[in-house]
Amino acid sequence: MDTSFTPPATADKREFYALLAEQTRALLQGERDWLANLSQFSALVYGALGEVNWAGFYMVRGQELVLGPFQGKVACVRIPFARGVCGACAREQTVQIVPDVHAFPGHIACDADSRSELVLPVRVRGQLCAVFDIDSPRPGRFDAEDAVGLAAMLTVLIDATEWP
Ligand code: SME
Repeated sequence: MDTSFTPPATADKREFYALLAEQTRALLQGERDWLANLSQFSALVYGALGEVNWAGFYMVRGQELVLGPFQGKVACVRIPFARGVCGACAREQTVQIVPDVHAFPGHIACDADSRSELVLPVRVRGQLCAVFDIDSPRPGRFDAEDAVGLAAMLTVLIDATEWP
């Protein structure tokens, strides 16, 4: 059996993420605990996307990010806002699409297999609470459609969750 993963083409990606947003809604139905919901969300993304070796949250703690629920290999626990792709996302509160992590100054290599990365800010009632980070072993794995699709999934998560 051929188990190689072919990422959906751009047009299909919209459908793919619309379906995942629905799955997120169904998965979190009836539960508002942030730890449970962020854990489930990480597992859903990690299992569904393909060519992903890490997916999870870093929580905002002052001017630092602290490791939250995730799927993948063990990772660095604390990231100052001044460092890495996650730090840039938190500092600028903008989505970071990094096609080649080796070309990103200050990138933090938690897993040497990671070659590209996508990080999205998680804002609750206008306040930055966390960032959501996804790594891939394939260069250029993530594009703007992935960012839009994941942002829509995060909106479902944010609305379904009681934040501390
Ligand atoms: N690469 C990230 C660090 C987190 S790990 O990828 C899980 C960064 O540069 O911020």
